[in-house]
Amino acid sequence: MSGWKQRGIRGVCKCKYLKYFNDMNLEEKINRNDFLKQLGFTGASLLALYTLDSCQNESNITPSGTFSLDLSAASNANLAKDGGYVINNNVVIARVGVNYIAATLICSHEGREQITFKNGEWYCTAHGARFDTTGKGLNSEGKKGLFVYNTSLSGNTLTITA
Ligand code: FES
Repeated sequence: MSGWKQRGIRGVCKCKYLKYFNDMNLEEKINRNDFLKQLGFTGASLLALYTLDSCQNESNITPSGTFSLDLSAASNANLAKDGGYVINNNVVIARVGVNYIAATLICSHEGREQITFKNGEWYCTAHGARFDTTGKGLNSEGKKGLFVYNTSLSGNTLTITA
């Protein structure tokens, strides 16, 4: 810690050190609270930082549950066309040809709820993470992959299952 102080860390933007916190090993994390206080994080700002960290970790949690969509409903009209998509229950449901696919809305890169379907791929509008239809990452932002759901169609009812 003293090395950081000697380099004048207090005068540098705190945001640059968020990645450093996430890369810490266990022993370093034990001392994280003291480290953050040395950076000037106190009270509400310290709570906000821990909340941000928690949100990022939540992106790694596998979603669960089953729900259904009525494809004849006006709210699902985008699924009538190839490449169209809708968002429901934090899941992005897209049509590819005559098939339907689904993936989590939560991006594995930094946990933003900004997954869309674009040009036949899952795409995050936050920083450009790309995933194929199976959830495999297609660039560095998407390297952690994306959770995808199973879908089944019966009449006009599309069921999405984790
Ligand atoms: S959060 Fe999706 S690309 Fe960064």
